[in-house]
Amino acid sequence: MIQHMINNHDKVVTRGLRDVAAAETKISFVDPLGTLYYLGYNIDALVEHVCYEEVVYLILYGKLPTKNELDELRSQLISEMQLPEAIVNSIKSFPLTSHPMEVLRTEVSHLSMYDPDPDYTSEQANRRRAIRLVAKVPTIVSTLHRLRTNQQLVAPSDEFGFPEHFLYLFRGKPADSEEKESIDRFMTLHADHGFNASTFAARVTASTNSDMYSAVTCAVGTLKGPLHGGASEKVMYMLDDINTEAEVEDYIQGMLDDQKKIMGFGHRVYRAEDPRTKHLREIAENLCHRTNTLNLYNLCIRIENVVHEKKKIFPNVDFYAAVTLNALGVPFEFFTPFFASSRVSGWTAHVMEQYKDAVLLRPSSRYVGEYGRPFVPIEKR
Ligand code: CMC
Repeated sequence: MIQHMINNHDKVVTRGLRDVAAAETKISFVDPLGTLYYLGYNIDALVEHVCYEEVVYLILYGKLPTKNELDELRSQLISEMQLPEAIVNSIKSFPLTSHPMEVLRTEVSHLSMYDPDPDYTSEQANRRRAIRLVAKVPTIVSTLHRLRTNQQLVAPSDEFGFPEHFLYLFRGKPADSEEKESIDRFMTLHADHGFNASTFAARVTASTNSDMYSAVTCAVGTLKGPLHGGASEKVMYMLDDINTEAEVEDYIQGMLDDQKKIMGFGHRVYRAEDPRTKHLREIAENLCHRTNTLNLYNLCIRIENVVHEKKKIFPNVDFYAAVTLNALGVPFEFFTPFFASSRVSGWTAHVMEQYKDAVLLRPSSRYVGEYGRPFVPIEKR
């Protein structure tokens, strides 16, 4: 017992698992100096030159598709967008007060019951399953929004590419060319991001050889938190709270004095600006220009400057993602579901990579509780 105690107390705790490499990955690399790569391609090049479906192909198959491969993936995605009737009925049954992320978490789990064999984990079956999830998560999100706002459900059609299809199912009207490009780039920029918390949660679940739906359900629950993907919704509440640029300085100082985190700022890995920010800033500016909401964009620039001046931290992906989605007409509480609808491609790829690694992810801990407490029978406590 004494020996156990000594060994336990010698254990070094890496708080927050900061800088701990839990596995190897080929899917993406988050360079702390401010670059992001998917399968070796710089995100700056991808966002300029390829569409989201090419990124999905890249992440799931490890290479960029040929024209035929892309067409095939696109038609698979569109044909998989339809939801089982039971899922639609189940979405109708939830309390109107439930958060869209709670509904999404539940329905991803529910989907596994409509997979004939969710535990059959051949690579081919898992890839089919990944495509099904990449296609169906945005439809769950869109269906919930349409039902909540008493609008007719819109049936998928093969007229559109996948990201614009998502907007079409969500809003019920086709996107114009600028909106189409914006949502495509938004989804590309959110597709994967190393061992972020939700991806790690998915990989831990997959490491027990549990099924892909269970892994993605855990990922959705993890993304929901405001220190992760839940931050984008909170950004919008902050912007709503600040009325003018003149109020920014006092507002931010007040938050810092109260030891509160400024949502949409800071990052565990990047020590420079998040490489996704410049793209989202540009998308947000263009969309705000069109929607006559440049005051919101200018407010963001002011906040960015003040936070950097005071804390030397940069906006992360969630800051301008919030403004982008707002300008696309997405209600605040659906921001994180839009993030999930894009990150599901990364989650499923990481689940497949984890199955190949075939090792249980199970860290240890340093026990700091008591030893050998005398047992007292219940009637004497
Ligand atoms: N507001 C105020 N101070 C901050 C913030 C912030 N948003 N982020 C970091 N800091 C401070 C932190 O308190 C620390 O200060 P000090 O040295 O005085 O103690 C310093 O900056 C360094 O922080 P860190 O160790 O780099 O932060 P971390 O790795 O523990 O936390 C984080 C990373 C993302 C949880 C944190 O930055 C945060 O809570 N941000 C707000 C929530 C948010 O925007 N989350 C989205 C994250 S990125 C995209 C995603 O995953 O969805």
